[in-house]
Amino acid sequence: MARVTAGLATSHIPAIGAAIDLAKTDMDYWRPVFAGYDWTKEWIAQSPPDVVVLVYNDHASHFSMELIPTFAIGCAERFAICDEGYGPRPVPEVVGHPDLAWHIAASAILDEFDMTIVNELTVDHGLTVPLSLVFGQPAAWPVAVIPLAVNVVQYPPPTSNRCFELGRAIRRAIQSFPEDLNVQVWGTGGMSHQLQGPRAGLINEPWDADFLDRLVADPDSLRTMPHIEYLREAGSEGIELVMWLIMRGALGESVELLHRFYHVPASNTALGHVVLEPTKENP
Ligand code: DHB
Ligand code: FE
Repeated sequence: MARVTAGLATSHIPAIGAAIDLAKTDMDYWRPVFAGYDWTKEWIAQSPPDVVVLVYNDHASHFSMELIPTFAIGCAERFAICDEGYGPRPVPEVVGHPDLAWHIAASAILDEFDMTIVNELTVDHGLTVPLSLVFGQPAAWPVAVIPLAVNVVQYPPPTSNRCFELGRAIRRAIQSFPEDLNVQVWGTGGMSHQLQGPRAGLINEPWDADFLDRLVADPDSLRTMPHIEYLREAGSEGIELVMWLIMRGALGESVELLHRFYHVPASNTALGHVVLEPTKENP
C-alpha cells in the first residue's frame, strides 16, 4: 500500500526562484535563506519519496477570474511551467502521477470533498519554488508531483477546518492506494506577509512562532482559526497558511518535528520551513 511518510512546509517566495535562476544564492542577502534548506536536502536524498502531493496556490497565473476552483487536483501526465509575466522559470517541467491523482480525486469526492479535476494545468512559483529549494537545479525533478491548487487569492478561501479535514481525506486516499509508494505531502506559502495596501510589508514573528508550535503539537487548535485572524495578524497573504493545515491533516494525530527554520526578511515575507514525520503509532 502507499504510505504518507513525511510532511514538509515552506514559503514559496518568487524572489527565491529568481535568486536560484540568476545564480545569486551566494549573495549575503540570500545565503542564510538557502542554508536553512541544507538539512532538508540531505534528508530527502537519504529517503527520496516516489510522489509529492504538493499543496500550493496559483497566483492568477494559470487560473483567472474566469475560473476559481477552491480545491483543484492536477491529474495530467505532465505540467508545464507558467509564464508569470517575466517568462517561465528555466526549470524542468513537472511530471505527474495520474493513477494516484485520479485515485485521490475519486476517494476525496466520494468522501464528500468536491475536488475539481484538472487535466491541463501549468504551474507557477507557488509550486516550483518549493521544488527548487528542496531539490536544487536538477535536469529533471527526481519525484512525481501531484499539484493540489487551493484558492487563497479570491475571497472566500476554504476554512482552516476544511483544509485540515481535506488533509485527513487525502491521507485516507493515499493509504487505500494499492501500489507500494512512498508519498510526501507538502504545504506551501506563508508565513506572515502582506504585499499590498497601507500595511504592505507586515511581518509578525511572534504570531508565526506560535503557528509553528501549534502546527506540530496542537493542530486541533488551528482548525477554528477564522480568516480574519490570518488577515489581521499575518497580513493579507498570510492566508496562504491554510495550505499548511492540509499537509498537517495528512500526517495523522501525532508528528515528530525533524527540522524547523524561520528567517526574516526574504523579499516581503517571513520565510518558514518545517519537516515533519508521522510518529510510528499513527494508524
Ligand atoms: C511574495 C511572496 C509570495 O508568497 C508571493 O506569492 C508573491 C510575492 C514576496 O514576498 O514578494
Ligand atoms: Fe504566494
